Amino acid sequence: MSSTGAADQINQEKLEAFLGKVVTDFGAALSSSLVYIGQKLGLYKALAEAGATTPAELAGRTGTQERYVREWLINQAASGYVEYDAAEGKFSLSPEQRAALADEESPAFVGGGFYLVKAMTNAVPRIEESFRKGGGILWGEHDPDLFVGVERFFRPGYRTHLVNDWIPALTGIAEKLKAGGLVADVGCGHGASTVIMAQAYPASRFRGFDNHGPSIEHARRAAEEAGVAGRVTFEVSAAGEIPGGPYDLVCFFDCLHDMGDPAGAARRAAEVLAEGGSALIVEPMAGDTVEENINIIGRTFSAASTLCCTSNSLALGGPALGAVATEEALREVVIGAGFKEFRRATQTPFNRVFEARR
Ligand SMILES: C[S@@+](CC[C@H](N)C(=O)[O-])C[C@H]1O[C@@H](n2cnc3c(N)ncnc32)[C@H](O)[C@@H]1O
Repeated sequence: MSSTGAADQINQEKLEAFLGKVVTDFGAALSSSLVYIGQKLGLYKALAEAGATTPAELAGRTGTQERYVREWLINQAASGYVEYDAAEGKFSLSPEQRAALADEESPAFVGGGFYLVKAMTNAVPRIEESFRKGGGILWGEHDPDLFVGVERFFRPGYRTHLVNDWIPALTGIAEKLKAGGLVADVGCGHGASTVIMAQAYPASRFRGFDNHGPSIEHARRAAEEAGVAGRVTFEVSAAGEIPGGPYDLVCFFDCLHDMGDPAGAARRAAEVLAEGGSALIVEPMAGDTVEENINIIGRTFSAASTLCCTSNSLALGGPALGAVATEEALREVVIGAGFKEFRRATQTPFNRVFEARR
């Protein structure tokens, strides 16, 4: 192909707009490493506590080096992640920036997302190799910040929606759990969802399962700290082999699409469900066609899927449903596993919430 031919077709205005987008993305990618550092070192929390601050004051409060903090603050102000008062030479957080970056109790807190970006970026050399040779990376082989990031990123959404919206959207399950039921949380990771449910339903008992041992150890500590360990157990188990039951509710939070054998996991869920029980399957928001994923959510989830979710399933020779699995693909797995009903019970901008019944 002649390069002149292609160049002739370039619209200069469109090229400049596109390059502007690319530079924005360069900045975003590099800055996200600095947001991670700010989360780790408590720079946002210190800024939130201090109010308007100079770099030297912020460094003093956090026991960090002023020269680095000064550079970090310039980047953060240019990113729109902190405010800058040029007259005073001071930096601060707006209420919105504080909620999103410094307040772990806020539903808007997104600090955990930067642990995910950092951990997934570390996976790049192996993912590049997997593009060439196939296979992938097992969940447990990732940078441990992935496990911390998932918990910190998903917990605000679970705290906001799980008990208030998602469980009430299921058929009769909220009533069962209020009265005292038994719940399995499959692929529970650090157990954020399990602990939140246990706190909300004091008459019920909860069993969290995950095949990643270090996550289960973390979850046990979290249950102790939350004071619910008497009614909550965490065990290492593959999803297709979870013990016990019958369960009134079997949950899969953001994990079915990752699995090497999602059909086996769904089959086991159908086997251990009590009469009248439900499976709650929470999956990332995604469209049913490629074009429905061409937006900022689809951009984010398809990237995470390439670097982590699809890769875990492929490492196990699985079907690689991926984070942007269509509703139809999920339905096929669930109905094929022996469930009779599969419906979207509710949703948020980031999650699809499905109920399956036998
Ligand atoms: C994205 S994380 C979600 C963790 C947790 N549900 C949450 O929402 O915070 C996916 C989890 O699924 C677990 N997982 C993947 N395949 C599994 C399998 N076959 N059996 C049990 N757990 C599995 C991983 O170890 C990981 O903890």
